[in-house]
Amino acid sequence: MTQGLSPNLQHLETSATIAISQEAKRRRAAGEDVIDLGAGEPDFPTPPIPADAGIRAVKEGKTHYPANEGILELRAAAAKHLSLLSGGRPVNADHIVVSSGSKQSLFNACFTLFGPGEVVAIPAPAWVSYPQIVHLARARPVLVSGDPEWSLKVSVKDLDRVVPGAQGLMLCSPCNPTGGVYTQGEIRAIAEWARKRGVWVIADEIYRRIHYGTGPAPSFLDLPDELLERVVVVYGVSKAYAMTGWRIGLALAPGTIARAMAALQSHTTTGANHPAQYAAAAALGDERVEHDVSRMVAEFRRRRDLVVSRFRQELPGIEFVEPLGAFYFFFRVDSLGGTSGTEFCTRLITQSGVALVPGAAFGDDRYVRLSYAAATDSIVQALDRIVAFAKKLGD
Ligand SMILES: Cc1ncc(COP(=O)(O)O)c(C=O)c1O
Repeated sequence: MTQGLSPNLQHLETSATIAISQEAKRRRAAGEDVIDLGAGEPDFPTPPIPADAGIRAVKEGKTHYPANEGILELRAAAAKHLSLLSGGRPVNADHIVVSSGSKQSLFNACFTLFGPGEVVAIPAPAWVSYPQIVHLARARPVLVSGDPEWSLKVSVKDLDRVVPGAQGLMLCSPCNPTGGVYTQGEIRAIAEWARKRGVWVIADEIYRRIHYGTGPAPSFLDLPDELLERVVVVYGVSKAYAMTGWRIGLALAPGTIARAMAALQSHTTTGANHPAQYAAAAALGDERVEHDVSRMVAEFRRRRDLVVSRFRQELPGIEFVEPLGAFYFFFRVDSLGGTSGTEFCTRLITQSGVALVPGAAFGDDRYVRLSYAAATDSIVQALDRIVAFAKKLGD
């Protein structure tokens, strides 16, 4: 451990995905021709309706401290929105807490629910921040490897085998980094497993609207109330609404937990950016914005199809997860002469000028993550380079 640092930060590492993007930017600034498919954020601008609502809020003087738990306008809009996505189920706005990005919602939930030494199961590959956030709560993250034959998802059998005594589970669907999506039946099985064992579930559904099946991706909110007594659903506007920089995320939790999370953030951030909350309220509350979301999702789908078809045709020996949601493509590189994800990415950025994220960042370095949240021209050019590079490696 670095001298002088508190044991709170014993396990802390900076985000590998952010590090890759910074490396790509650094190389570009130095004049190198680098295409960045490492970043996990939409390349689209925020749609005009939420953007204008945010500007209006500033002009109208909504610039004072907000309520700790978030403004009622946003919590009410989010409750209605989540209810509509799940066939009209009742959603209580008082059980929603607004935070500075869903990353903070995840942090609040972990910090509220878990304590020193408690085990939190994390299906892997998993988004980089989950294990770090669990460590910050002094709890113990345990990765549970997903099945390559099953889009790298985990089953309740896997959970029982690896973490029979877990206190918590963090589940991401649609999944970053794989694009895999749990079906309604699979979500129900996990919820039943968790209820039987008294496990708290943090369901990260930030990519729920970016789903290539019919309607939004299956959700814990499609389950009956009795299966939600120990579930915190995390949602947000960053991804589907192209609002990463506004830093607004949401958690829907049982009342006592929601109140504790609001109290926790009353001592950390006070509350999320006040005018940005009006922007998010417009994003979730104004039906017209759904057309913008549908357009963006259709574009992500076109790009997904492009990436998948080029890999199938030009690199048929490479295994990958068929993405059904989010905007990531997770492919396996160890078949290329035993290359690790880290080695693949390091050589790719230096030799061919494409930034991707090694699977090590997500707990499995046999893989590499490509984000297709980038302009189609960039994706096409990057694919040309990746295909040529991988063919050379495989020779
Ligand atoms: C799975 C997942 N959850 C949460 C987040 C955090 O999103 P934000 O804090 O922008 O709402 C991200 C962002 O990359 C993510 O990929």
